[in-house]
Amino acid sequence: MIPVAKVNEVPNFGKKVVSASGREILLVNIKGAVFACENECPHQGSPLNAAIVKDDYIACPRHGYRFSLADGRCTDHPEFTLKIFPVQISGNDILVDPS
Ligand code: FES
Repeated sequence: MIPVAKVNEVPNFGKKVVSASGREILLVNIKGAVFACENECPHQGSPLNAAIVKDDYIACPRHGYRFSLADGRCTDHPEFTLKIFPVQISGNDILVDPS
């Protein structure tokens, strides 16, 4: 687990792009729960830092595919899966396992 940001840097329903182990990772805060996913849509590679965040999913800005932030599944197009990274909160630090 690598510290990548402070909790207060990712506001509720907000996003933040960080780098860890050479990867771009998108942090998303949904009602206090922080999720981490790759910042590249598995469909056609659109950056997801401009995505729409809803209660439990993120919608790609390019074609609107919706991905679960819990497991990365795309219910509309199950052949595409978003990579999700484990997250841990330690005090005010957000830690991510980017492997
Ligand atoms: S590039 Fe993301 S849905 Fe097509």
